[in-house]
Amino acid sequence: MKKKLIAGNWKMNGSLAANDALVRALRDGIGQPGCDVAVAVPAPYLAQLQSLVADSPIALAAQDVSVHESGAYTGEVSASMLKDFAVRYTLVGHSERRQYHGETDATIAIKAQRALSVGITPIVCVGETLAERDAGQTEAVVKRQLAAVIHLNGHCISEIVVAYEPVWAIGTGRTASPEQAQQVHAVLRAQLAAATSHADRIPLLYGGSMNAANVAQLLAQPDIDGGLVGGASLKASDFLQIIAAAQ
Ligand code: 13P
Repeated sequence: MKKKLIAGNWKMNGSLAANDALVRALRDGIGQPGCDVAVAVPAPYLAQLQSLVADSPIALAAQDVSVHESGAYTGEVSASMLKDFAVRYTLVGHSERRQYHGETDATIAIKAQRALSVGITPIVCVGETLAERDAGQTEAVVKRQLAAVIHLNGHCISEIVVAYEPVWAIGTGRTASPEQAQQVHAVLRAQLAAATSHADRIPLLYGGSMNAANVAQLLAQPDIDGGLVGGASLKASDFLQIIAAAQ
């Protein structure tokens, strides 16, 4: 059975002191996890995190990457800069980037491509808003979002990770039920299977109010291969319980 992946997304939270305390507590409690583990941290803390997670089972992830390789793009962080800090994964297309920064499917596809070109695995986020769900558009929305990254020049789709994060479940405490999540994951898996014979290898993560109480039921679903965890990744005891459930 393939290992599950549990990735924490710290979003715009943390400080040198808080990061230090959190990662030390994670390292103390993590043992030899039966799943892959990553933390997606704000860019200014990559150097700190690189040394904090060294020689541990915790991989480093970024929260975003530029569409550009280098040059006059003030404020941007390139894929090769991330690579300098041993970043293993980067989120692309998180709904907060789509919503607050106007990221489009086309932008997100370029970001995924940039990450892959330096050997960083993009975690491509998809998910519908509440209005889209209520209008019966969930499938169409996630399929459109996934279609944008399914044919990346020169790269096999099986090199990516996909995270299904229904926007209405993010930070709301309102998790998708395991059945609701599985239903969408099955749609995504079928779409991947039509594009590659390696669809089973692509981790499909669920994200949206995942916590220690609901993780086991979500991960018990056949097409849920891990989690992308926001709020609960900021507390070591919560994140460790989620990791422990993902064996
Ligand atoms: P919460 O776990 O806080 O709902 O956030 C989910 C998320 O957006 C992870 O990327």
